[in-house]
Amino acid sequence: MRNRRMLIFLGLFAFTLSLSQGAAAQLASRPAEEWSKTLEAHDRVANLKMDEIVAKLGLKPGGSVADIGAGSGLFEVPLAKAVSPSGKVYAVDIDAGFFPQIKRKADEAHVTNVQTVLGKYTDPNLPAKNIDLVFFHDVLHHIEDRAAYLKSVSGYLTPSGRVVVIDYEPGMGPHKGHPDLEVSREQLATWMKNAGLKPSEDVKMFPDRYFLVYSK
Ligand SMILES: C[S@@+](CC[C@H](N)C(=O)[O-])C[C@H]1O[C@@H](n2cnc3c(N)ncnc32)[C@H](O)[C@@H]1O
Repeated sequence: MRNRRMLIFLGLFAFTLSLSQGAAAQLASRPAEEWSKTLEAHDRVANLKMDEIVAKLGLKPGGSVADIGAGSGLFEVPLAKAVSPSGKVYAVDIDAGFFPQIKRKADEAHVTNVQTVLGKYTDPNLPAKNIDLVFFHDVLHHIEDRAAYLKSVSGYLTPSGRVVVIDYEPGMGPHKGHPDLEVSREQLATWMKNAGLKPSEDVKMFPDRYFLVYSK
C-alpha cells in the first residue's frame, strides 16, 4: 500500500514537471487558431512593411531561407517569390496547427517552393544544411533558450549565410513590462557572438523594432 502511494506520488510529480517544462519552452504561447487572429489583424499587417523587409533581405533566385516561427505564414509567399521557384522556403514552427494556413496561402498564390517544418524547442530541425538566410520576425522573444537556439541555427548556414532578427526594442512592444519576453540588442549580440555570428547590418526601418543582420 505504502509502495503504491509512493508510485502514484512519483508519477504525479513527473507529470507536473513535464507539463511545466513543456510550457516554459515556448513563452507566451497560444493555440494557433486564436493566435492567428492577432497575427493577421488589419492594424498589425498594415504596419509590418512586409514587402520592404523582404526587399531589404536581398534574397537571390535559387536561394534557401528558413522562416523561424512562421506562424500564420504572412511572409511565406513574398519570401517564396523572392527566391523564385528554383529556391526554397522552410516555414518552421513549433506548432503544426499553423501549417494548414501556410499551405493554403502558398496554394492560393500558386507557389510550390514552401515546405513546412516542425521545429524543436532549441533546434529548427531543418532538413538541409545549406541555408542562405534564417529569418526571425517577431519570434525570438517567444523562444525560451535563445542562446541554444541561435547556436543550432548557425550549424544550418552556408559559409556566407546570414541571420536576420526583427524584434521589439525593450519597452516598446506588446510585452512591455515583462522583461522575460523581451530581447535587447545587447543580449542578442552576446548570443550571436557565442554562436559564431558577427554583426553585419543595422537596418533602420521601424521606430519600435530593430532589424539586425548577422553573418558567419
Ligand atoms: C508572434 S508569432 C510570429 C509569427 C510570424 N513570424 C509573424 O511575424 O507573423 C511567434 C511564432 O513563433 C512560434 N514559435 C515560438 N517558439 C518557437 C520555437 N522554439 N521554434 C519555432 N517557432 C516557435 C510560435 O508558435 C508563433 O507561431
